[in-house]
Amino acid sequence: MNPDPWKISRTKIYAITRRICHRSGSSIVWTGMNTNSIATDAAESWKIVVIGGSGLIGSKLVRNLRKLGHEVVSASPSSGVNTLTGEGLAAALAGARVVVDVANSPSFEDKAVLEFFETAGRNILAAEAVAGVTHHIALSVVGTDRMLASGYFRAKMAQETLIKAATIPYTIVRATQFFEFIGAIAQAATDGQTVRVSPAMMQPIVSDDVAAALTDIAIAAPLNGIVELAGPEPIRMNELVCQFLTVQGDSRELITDAGAGYFGTEVNDQSLTPGENPILGPTHFADWLRQPVTAK
Ligand SMILES: NC(=O)c1ccc[n+]([C@@H]2O[C@H](COP(=O)([O-])OP(=O)(O)OC[C@H]3O[C@@H](n4cnc5c(N)ncnc54)[C@H](OP(=O)(O)O)[C@@H]3O)[C@@H](O)[C@H]2O)c1
Repeated sequence: MNPDPWKISRTKIYAITRRICHRSGSSIVWTGMNTNSIATDAAESWKIVVIGGSGLIGSKLVRNLRKLGHEVVSASPSSGVNTLTGEGLAAALAGARVVVDVANSPSFEDKAVLEFFETAGRNILAAEAVAGVTHHIALSVVGTDRMLASGYFRAKMAQETLIKAATIPYTIVRATQFFEFIGAIAQAATDGQTVRVSPAMMQPIVSDDVAAALTDIAIAAPLNGIVELAGPEPIRMNELVCQFLTVQGDSRELITDAGAGYFGTEVNDQSLTPGENPILGPTHFADWLRQPVTAK
């Protein structure tokens, strides 16, 4: 009997994915994943459940993992799986080896979002224990532990705490803000025709790069710890929003205000940026902005 089933899988999977990596400082930068020419090996096909598989990140992750030849279940209310009520959860997880939770709460109101991540977290972890799942992966946010004045981040912290206290081997992946979320940041900072934004440092990442990293993590051994994902470069929030509005031809007035905060919470240059050794996505914000909408 093989004492470390991950070892064989890992070696083989890295050989077939041919991901090209190079080092930048102490961070790993991914320059791409070649899944197009990968032959499906039925013996290596795992059942992997993506909770929130219909979402921005989830749909990309489902596609990547299917390309690698895995049996992937996209689990969310639109496919009959509700982690809040437990509906369809046991059936979806039966025989699963890995579960990746990339769901999000439909409401960001303090009480609702806490209830979502606590109840869903408990239900998922209990169902995983019954199903014999060997790796639970959850997508969280860089700075969660520094932003507890925010109800959303308290809810993400509660989700992480449940995972750490459970018996299922896990990897918590904390990502910085997605490029696709910058519009929502501008919207939340808008009053009339004015957008009031903090100059706090950020290091956002495109959703494709988050999905690529999660693909790799889903087929690797659990870390029983936290890994951070970020974009290739730091950039200030006001600068990000300025570039976003300019490309959109949006005429709202942008005001830089150090006291503006982030969704009602104070921020500084450390709040939203990763610590040491993050995994860096290769896509630059300016390049993404220049892409046609259909390519985003
Ligand atoms: N936005 C950012 O910048 C950012 C940064 C770092 C980390 N994150 C984290 O990334 C994760 C994914 O975000 P996203 O933007 O990809 O989410 P999203 O596009 O809003 O998708 C949310 C997903 O959650 C599912 N869902 C909602 N209620 C559910 C329930 N009761 N049971 C099961 N699934 C349910 C939805 O399913 P239906 O489509 O069927 O309703 C959908 O698939 C979140 O956990 C978030 O905290 C976000």
